[in-house]
Amino acid sequence: VTENPDRPAPRTVRVGLLGCGTVGGALTELVTGRCDDIAARTGVRLTVSRIAVRDARRPRQVQLADAVLTEDPASVVTADDVDVVVEVIGGIEPARTLITTALRSGKPVVSANKELLAHHGAELFELADAHGVDLLFEAAVAGGIPFVRPLRESLAGEDVTRVIGIINGTTNYILTKMTEEGWSYTEALAEAQALGYAEADPTADVGGFDAGAKAAIIAGIAFGVALSAEDVHHEGITEVSADDIATARRLGFQIKLLAVAERFDDNSVAVRVHPTMVPEEHPLASVRDSFNAVFVEGRAVGELMFYGRGAGGGPTASAVLGDVIDASVNLVQGSHASLGVFTPASLRPQSELPSAFYLAVEVADQPGVLATVAGVFGTNGVSIRSMEQVGADGDATARLVFITHAAREADVSATLIKLRSLDVVGSIDSVIRVLGDA
Ligand SMILES: NC(=O)c1ccc[n+]([C@@H]2O[C@H](COP(=O)([O-])OP(=O)(O)OC[C@H]3O[C@@H](n4cnc5c(N)ncnc54)[C@H](OP(=O)(O)O)[C@@H]3O)[C@@H](O)[C@H]2O)c1
Repeated sequence: VTENPDRPAPRTVRVGLLGCGTVGGALTELVTGRCDDIAARTGVRLTVSRIAVRDARRPRQVQLADAVLTEDPASVVTADDVDVVVEVIGGIEPARTLITTALRSGKPVVSANKELLAHHGAELFELADAHGVDLLFEAAVAGGIPFVRPLRESLAGEDVTRVIGIINGTTNYILTKMTEEGWSYTEALAEAQALGYAEADPTADVGGFDAGAKAAIIAGIAFGVALSAEDVHHEGITEVSADDIATARRLGFQIKLLAVAERFDDNSVAVRVHPTMVPEEHPLASVRDSFNAVFVEGRAVGELMFYGRGAGGGPTASAVLGDVIDASVNLVQGSHASLGVFTPASLRPQSELPSAFYLAVEVADQPGVLATVAGVFGTNGVSIRSMEQVGADGDATARLVFITHAAREADVSATLIKLRSLDVVGSIDSVIRVLGDA
């Protein structure tokens, strides 16, 4: 790209970087490599003037001038030669205090920190608005996928009813390997750790906490409500067995860890993360390996899907850079983006949510059992969509596999309690939700 002679000389915007690890390092390389192009396109020349790290002596992949590096992050946010602050340290503190200080001193902030925004987003967005500066966070949800900006801007007038995401790459990789290679959960987790997709302690990913934090942010923007990670019901993938996956495939489903944010007609909302059987013909079923995707349903727009890399230095830095450019252009023009008003969320209790379920029940193989078991569903208001019996003739037990129509979760819980109390029921081995219409 060549510079337009009619455009005034690019105005320099100096970036103060908090953190120079996977994302910060990739961002520094991107800014260095792309700054001429960015200047020609936008009229803003980016330069990284200061970088805070924990240990300045640690060897780094990027070449950094000694004068740029500091171990004092507070000095970066207050420095006169920093116009825009980028927070890629992660965690709650010191990130929260540093961002608060930056916003209070009128500096726009870009952050990739889902944990912080999921717990303290509403407070920080209010602060940014009060000081008339940007707080942008595209990379905090679904890494490199441009999704937050389309949701906030292109879909600002849309009546979004449901957002369904595969927003944790680690669990999607594990489930893909269990599905395609027939690996056990333990084998797939070990491979994910060897490839660097999963941490030594994988709880945040496999327990659904990471996806829950991102889902809270997504629901907040999609529905304009103030939500935190504590409002999200989450179940992880540790209980999903190779057997569940094989049965799901046979029935025409893929098991995925989905984050589902819904708004109902009475304006109540619900956000939940759980393993889900996704019909093979649904676009989300084809999202494999560590890829992420977000599927949006709106009354006017219909269905949309955003797909890409949800993590990794390059993809995440690309999303951060887009925000840095946006914040810089706004700064130069004296404007800022607003997230609008966040109203308190009216949360629909989990027990009242509609869900279809897949249930695998081990029963005594004797006459009349099927009718008894099916009767329990009926008396609790749960209607059965399909049922099949698995188990060789002559076995003492048989396995009954049910898929229900959407039912209140409270009614399904009552069905399970009653089933467990029956003498003819040996065990209930699997209870997995099935993706259906909203
Ligand atoms: N990695 C991804 O794929 C990804 C994707 C989406 C979002 N994110 C988010 O991006 C953020 C950064 O992730 P990351 O993977 O780049 O983390 P990382 O590789 O662990 O890097 C963290 C950086 O912060 C620095 N740091 C930590 N504590 C500090 C302190 N008290 N003061 C100054 N510097 C400090 C570290 O310094 P040293 O280098 O000296 O240790 C390091 O440079 C997190 O919020 C994460 O959730 C990451």
